[in-house]
Amino acid sequence: VRSVTPPTSVSVRSALPADAAALAEFAARSFRETYAPPHGPCDPEDVAAYVAAHFGPAVQGAELADPRTRVLLAECEGAIAGYAFVRLDSRPAAVANHVPDPGADPLLVAGATAELARLYVDRRWHGSGLAAVLYDAARAEAAADGAGALWCAVYQRNPRALAFYRKHGARTIASATFRMGREVQDDWLLAVPVGPASR
Ligand SMILES: CC(C)(COP(=O)(O)OP(=O)(O)OC[C@H]1O[C@@H](n2cnc3c(N)ncnc32)[C@H](O)[C@@H]1OP(=O)(O)O)[C@@H](O)C(=O)NCCC(=O)NCCS
Repeated sequence: VRSVTPPTSVSVRSALPADAAALAEFAARSFRETYAPPHGPCDPEDVAAYVAAHFGPAVQGAELADPRTRVLLAECEGAIAGYAFVRLDSRPAAVANHVPDPGADPLLVAGATAELARLYVDRRWHGSGLAAVLYDAARAEAAADGAGALWCAVYQRNPRALAFYRKHGARTIASATFRMGREVQDDWLLAVPVGPASR
């Protein structure tokens, strides 16, 4: 049994271009910790290849400069404790490997949708409630942009994340595949209503 004290001084804000280097460092570390051994189920070489291609000050700098993305940073004791990355106006129907077509799901068919592309919390704060604060903030960003639902793709071998999203109202709408290095992973696509219709 592991007990985690909720961070008392956590704050959530929108990331700025100046946060790119710190965000890249946190994103790379938390990705590695999630998917590579000892905690994750994936081949460390596949994870390393993905990290090298997707995380670095220039990549996160470009993401932060993109007007269609929102990055929310949770900070605690002066350090990044977690982040959520939202792609506004993003529809899973654009991706051919999603079965059944999630664009036909009643949750996504009406109106705009946004994607929660990443939600990562420092292991130290798992179970603390911090992830829920970030998920709420991500839903609020999506709703503020006029989305009716927020969707995300989750590795099927990530039971903790799946339990987290389902506990917070998301439901499974399709399966999908995702390539990490040489591995083709099976994901679930989940979606949750946001905005006035969800209340
Ligand atoms: C996913 C994440 C944001 C969730 O935050 P969290 O603080 O760990 O979530 P919570 O503890 O509130 O909820 C997780 C739930 O899963 C349960 N759980 C933990 N391990 C589990 C397992 N192996 N199988 C099933 N459920 C599990 C927990 O008991 C908890 O449920 P409970 O509150 O009913 O007890 C966080 O774990 C994280 O950052 N993980 C690494 C990054 C990641 O996987 N991101 C998602 C990518 S899509």
